[in-house]
Amino acid sequence: MERVVSASKMNEDDFEMSLRPHNLAQYIGQNKVKDNLEVFIKAAKMRNEALDHCLLYGPPGLGKTTLANIIAHEMEVDIKHTSGPSIERSGDLAAILTTLNPGDVLFIDEIHRLSRNIEEILYPAMEDYCLDIVVGKDQTARSIRLDLPPFTLVGATTRAGDLTAPLRDRFGVISHLEYYSVADLQKIVLRTSQIFTFSIDNDAAVELAQRSRGTPRVANRLFRRVRDFAQVSGEEKITLKICKASLDKMNVDGAGLDYTDHKYLLGIIERYNGGPVGVEALAASIGEETQTLEDVYEPYLLQEGFIKRTARGRVATEKAYRHLNIKQRFF
Ligand code: ADE
Repeated sequence: MERVVSASKMNEDDFEMSLRPHNLAQYIGQNKVKDNLEVFIKAAKMRNEALDHCLLYGPPGLGKTTLANIIAHEMEVDIKHTSGPSIERSGDLAAILTTLNPGDVLFIDEIHRLSRNIEEILYPAMEDYCLDIVVGKDQTARSIRLDLPPFTLVGATTRAGDLTAPLRDRFGVISHLEYYSVADLQKIVLRTSQIFTFSIDNDAAVELAQRSRGTPRVANRLFRRVRDFAQVSGEEKITLKICKASLDKMNVDGAGLDYTDHKYLLGIIERYNGGPVGVEALAASIGEETQTLEDVYEPYLLQEGFIKRTARGRVATEKAYRHLNIKQRFF
């Protein structure tokens, strides 16, 4: 009988998971973060202690969740995943914390989106491994204290600045993930090509790396799409020619900027004469969410020097004009 749900059917998320490195040795790039973590993990294991709480911050797609999984794997403990917005009530947090075994990792994604009252429950849990919860209502309300096993909280955020100081201060390890170099992305693309057993020429891997906006998740997605173009054209491998042609077809330009990046830059240039313009006004005028622009698009445009942030708003730089082949007008 034909199965309706086939176990072999993989969606994009499954692909993403299958590509993720499982230990520090397989993890490419982020050398500073990796080297330090290696020491902290070794030391915690030597002392037979839980690893100190770790905060991982940086733009999306750089491997924060992957690193959290690797931390648990290297510590030889289990990991439970949750996220800031999904913990609504203190009971939600208590339910997760009380299932942890000694040394386990609790991963909280988007930790900047925890509500204040949940944050306050987290403080004693992080510091003293205990949980103060209120049971009952009104006159019968009383606080009971639950002991927790020693555990490691790994928090991930794209916005370290949005974390309250008391929460930030309770992390013993704070690691900033940076955009990947082209050389590291090239290695990741070659690794992906091996996992998928579909070859890519070296120059094509460099091209793909250059157009992946410093982000492994983007590189892996583009790899899969370029492979689609190659296979449909009857090619057995990804050559530079097919790589360039397919990226062009997907509107990923030579600097890795996509349709939304172009819309963003053209928005500043054409509607606001190059800026300055506030991000809210710009987001509304190009039909994007402010938060998406701030978290996903702006960090890369800023790092690559296509825009500047000023007190009066965002400004398109000369590099942006040159890149889009638009003459700068001064008036
Ligand atoms: N796949 C996605 N990110 C990776 C990384 N940093 N190292 C190796 N493979 C990856």
